[in-house]
Amino acid sequence: MSASVPPIRVNNNLLEMEYAVRGPIPKRAAELQKQGKKIIPCHIGNPQALGQPPLTYFRQVLSLVEDTSKIARERKLKDLFEENPYSDLKQKDFISDDVLAKSESILANLKSGMGAYTESKGPRFIREAIAEFINKRDDYKNRGGVIADPEKIFLTSGASGGVRFVIEALIAQKNDGIMIPIPQYPLYSATIKRAGGTQVNYYLDEEKGWTFDRDLLEEAFRKAVNNGVNIKGIVVINPGNPTGAILDEQHVDEVIAFAEDHNIAIIADEVYQDNIKADEFVSFARALGTKEVTLFSLHSISKGFYGECGHRGGYLEVRNPPKIQGSNMDFADLLVKTASVSLCPNTAGQVLVYLMVNQPQEGSEAYPQFIQEKNKILSDLADKATMIREAFTHMEGVECFGGTGALYLFPRLNKLPKGTTDFDYCMALLEDTGICTVNGSGFGQKEGTHHLRIAFLPPKELLAQVLPRWIEFHNKYVAETI
Ligand SMILES: Cc1ncc(COP(=O)(O)O)c(C=O)c1O
Repeated sequence: MSASVPPIRVNNNLLEMEYAVRGPIPKRAAELQKQGKKIIPCHIGNPQALGQPPLTYFRQVLSLVEDTSKIARERKLKDLFEENPYSDLKQKDFISDDVLAKSESILANLKSGMGAYTESKGPRFIREAIAEFINKRDDYKNRGGVIADPEKIFLTSGASGGVRFVIEALIAQKNDGIMIPIPQYPLYSATIKRAGGTQVNYYLDEEKGWTFDRDLLEEAFRKAVNNGVNIKGIVVINPGNPTGAILDEQHVDEVIAFAEDHNIAIIADEVYQDNIKADEFVSFARALGTKEVTLFSLHSISKGFYGECGHRGGYLEVRNPPKIQGSNMDFADLLVKTASVSLCPNTAGQVLVYLMVNQPQEGSEAYPQFIQEKNKILSDLADKATMIREAFTHMEGVECFGGTGALYLFPRLNKLPKGTTDFDYCMALLEDTGICTVNGSGFGQKEGTHHLRIAFLPPKELLAQVLPRWIEFHNKYVAETI
């Protein structure tokens, strides 16, 4: 700090904003790592940081659209190989024609390549591909639904970019409130705080697998309204982070009816939709059908089996955007205006969103390797969640509700030494074993309860080594209770 520069006042909302996922525990982990301690970073859903390999198909296309000369080079090499029967190279040593063709078609559509700004909401061909993906996923024709409109789709810098666009636009004044589930992913509390609005909690029912019912939503709504809050929207995270809960049709319908009756918008965070089987996932767009409720749905390349967090790609789809009071714009026009101020999301993230919604189809040359990699990643994730759940059964006073729908488990710590909290526990766990988790209080929880969140991402061999140490640490730590 320079002694000659006087302190200044800054936006207080930024000072008050909290984001536990990158809070004091991960900060301490970084210090310990500098001192040479081995850290197992389970505090964040960052799959490739824990060794999850990227999908070959995604990366081959991405590298070819970035370095276009390699497309012609690859084709030339293939021709040489065809003409030379003595070569020991095999077809599989070359990049498949599918990948070459896909890369060429992306470049043809982009026209100006990867280094140029795109339209602020993303190029039309990517938005059309997203619309087609949504239409197919939701089978809108057979279900009497509504066709997705590419003009109401926005490419964003991860889902986080879309969440920020929506919440900042919805909050007009301090008493404008957004309902969020507790526990929640702290992007929501932080974004509401940054926008200067009011966070309205609805508490998920832990023992019912972290779900909710209409009464619970109504109660939270009524309480807030009685306190002068003007509720503008409700956030639903499905599958849930940190809970892993997967909502069925009845729950999704309940939220829609609730939003319709109170004339509020739904913000549906569906970034984990590819972590579960297609028939387990009920999208809000599908359930909404022709009902005229404002819906913002978010998806991302960061999760699922692709795990491309660092490339920052995502999309936001808007249905039934409301008109804006005192203006001839509607909410989607306002989002275009907001998006245009940051010019465009990065092009690599946009290309990966395109590939996410446009995956190799059965029968294509790229399909066998793609599906093999996808299945391996998803089955490894399921195995790792099972290993950790099993370890919990050997830890005194640990109960884990909720599903395995996202990348996390959120166990309850029923026994802690007197006067300590889940924060103290997570810090001690880190110091003792190197396992970096996040305290439940960072996501919100019912008063008097304690939890932690762990991302089930470390390789199985590493889990097999550290879980026994965690069990030993835990049982010693909680023994101090008695
Ligand atoms: C529920 C949820 N929504 C949004 C995000 C942000 O994702 P992105 O990397 O796409 O910004 C995350 C990241 O962990 C998340 O868990």
